[in-house]
Amino acid sequence: MKNLDQLRLIGSGGANRAMEAELKRLAPRLLDRPKLDKPVRADPQTLLYPFDPGLAWLAANYLRTPSRALWDLALLDAPRLEPLFQQVRDYVADGNHAWLTEDARISVIVRDIGAFPAGALQVRGTVKNGLVEGAAAHHLTLTLSPEDADLVFVIRPDEAGLVLSLDLAAVSLHQRGYRLDTSEAPLKETLAAQMLILSRWDSRKEGLLDPFAGSGTIPLEAAMMAVGAPVFVPPRGPLCARWPLFHDWRAIGEKDLFPGTAPTIVANEIQTQTVEALRRNLARTGRPESVIVQQGDFRDLDAAKIKGWFGDQPGLVLSNLPFGERVGGKGRGLEDQSEDQKLIRLFEDLADFCHNLGRQWRFAFLSAHPAVEGIFGEPTMKKPMAHGSINAQFLLYEW
Ligand SMILES: C[S@@+](CC[C@H](N)C(=O)[O-])C[C@H]1O[C@@H](n2cnc3c(N)ncnc32)[C@H](O)[C@@H]1O
Repeated sequence: MKNLDQLRLIGSGGANRAMEAELKRLAPRLLDRPKLDKPVRADPQTLLYPFDPGLAWLAANYLRTPSRALWDLALLDAPRLEPLFQQVRDYVADGNHAWLTEDARISVIVRDIGAFPAGALQVRGTVKNGLVEGAAAHHLTLTLSPEDADLVFVIRPDEAGLVLSLDLAAVSLHQRGYRLDTSEAPLKETLAAQMLILSRWDSRKEGLLDPFAGSGTIPLEAAMMAVGAPVFVPPRGPLCARWPLFHDWRAIGEKDLFPGTAPTIVANEIQTQTVEALRRNLARTGRPESVIVQQGDFRDLDAAKIKGWFGDQPGLVLSNLPFGERVGGKGRGLEDQSEDQKLIRLFEDLADFCHNLGRQWRFAFLSAHPAVEGIFGEPTMKKPMAHGSINAQFLLYEW
């Protein structure tokens, strides 16, 4: 058994670069320290930092790119159930743990047990017993209460054994609480945030336009990232806000880290129902003025409209491109064409639209269609990005 005491950030496929960059952007606003430790990259989507409460609070309250933020407690290298119980018990009994409080309700989630020679339910029961017995050695009572736990323990496998962690938020960080209405092909909030970070969108200088905004994930994430807003919209919040360890940090978790940043953000979407969903999501962010909502085919966004919104300022077109769903094109002589032909025409029109915006604009897309690269040419950056079960590519274009 080994004490770990580390912060584990887990993202979706290949998220490390975006997670590290986002943490570097936010940490100086919250933490009184010039430099962060270099993280260990456990795999392409997992970063490990030495644990400290400020960093953990930042991760659970403000990071938009990871899916999970965990506090790794111990590496359990027991070969069987009996020594596993003993290791968990001893770990809790022998240490001085800031998370351990009287009458805490606990839950144990076993994500996977790798090659451990027992069933997941047996591992769960054994870990639970070890936690309860270990707390008893401190004369403290822990009660199993999965429905309303104060502490959610997680077990996952590692090369050297099982890792015991606490989930700081206890829900996936993409469940922010504002995007309850979705479109046909919604993007995960964490992916939208990764796209913003990878495109190095500068919210102080650049505008942002999503021509295919759907339920608004990219523009709404942009608006909240610009001001450094907390990830969860009240009444949601991370579970760790209940822990005495974070008592002094609580007030900070409600504030924007970059208040007053007010970039121009435009969300364009063709379908009426989807625009309505977008508006409801925007209202739920509590920042209805932060995004301009426009309904229509992006091909109708003419130079005068663009100039009216953005003036001569630089901007970023950022979008996840339609791929499966039906695309607009009514009245454009496309009626006899197949859906794929319409899609290709849509990408060609998008390329013209982007180039016509002028050299102060950059553009970036999440795309799963093979025609896009041929139409747009060589990207400045290309990165595989899993979008659910779809193998998509993030493509960035700069002049
Ligand atoms: C992949 S979805 C975007 C999903 C969005 N990122 C979200 O998270 O909800 C693409 C969107 O483009 C819209 N769309 C398709 N053709 C369009 C067009 N010509 N102009 C504007 N929007 C269009 C579709 O209605 C769809 O909502």
